[in-house]
Amino acid sequence: MATPSTPPYGAPAPRAPRVSATELATMSAQGRRIAMLTAYDASFAGVAERAGVDVLLVGDSLGMVVQGHATTLPVTLEQMLYHTRCVVAGCSRPMVIADLPFGTFQGRADDAYAAGVAALQAGAQMVKVEGGAWMAPTVEYLVRRGVPVCGHVGLTPQSVHALGGFRVQGKTDAAAQALLADAGALAAAGCALLVVECVPRALGARLTAEAGIPVIGIGAGPDCSGQVLVVYDALGIQPGRPARFVRNFLTGHDAIEAALAAYVAAVRDGSFPGPEHCF
Ligand code: KIV
Repeated sequence: MATPSTPPYGAPAPRAPRVSATELATMSAQGRRIAMLTAYDASFAGVAERAGVDVLLVGDSLGMVVQGHATTLPVTLEQMLYHTRCVVAGCSRPMVIADLPFGTFQGRADDAYAAGVAALQAGAQMVKVEGGAWMAPTVEYLVRRGVPVCGHVGLTPQSVHALGGFRVQGKTDAAAQALLADAGALAAAGCALLVVECVPRALGARLTAEAGIPVIGIGAGPDCSGQVLVVYDALGIQPGRPARFVRNFLTGHDAIEAALAAYVAAVRDGSFPGPEHCF
């Protein structure tokens, strides 16, 4: 547990300091795996906190699992800010990361900065942006101005139409090399964390070994610094056949908190994801 820092200007010290980027880097350096889940409201944020989750991502996946759209593209910044406030209100220890939605950061860096400031003012400690090396100048612009950034490479759902669907990425040598270069550029630009989605296990391991920052995998194999799942997937709520990398942790448990605690335990001891969840 990191030593709580003393806030300046006589403000009271928080009772339970939130997990910081420094703490995540220490966990990763010590080989302690990071457990991350998505959350969209105060009640789930509270249950996830009691289950021991380190990081809550207010993902723009809410466009699909909360709003019922086919993609994340319709989600607006206002909606992200609303759900970020809900999650922040419902928990005190986990780090809260807010996704910047489609169209708010891919253009001008000062537009990305305005969106990042709004997310931090809604209570997030970090924002997540999708994209590779081409996003590095924007990441540097945000980080220099006090907006911590988590990158997101591999399958980037905001690019679903450009990618031709929700497909595993980095399968050829050239694609794997490009992803390694993307991760290096994002880390050099100042990203504190990197989400890697849907890549072959060996590439997930290599990205984690070489990035120099904690790498959180989703469909990227067990050799990452930590794992993230959409909370509704982890509870088997979504209809239809789940994606290969999903496990329903409610199976064998009679309460949501117990299921999420089982997720945290499986991430910590490396038993999730298993071979059956890997590409
Ligand atoms: O929006 C989201 O939930 C995400 C995770 C799947 C990583 O980006």
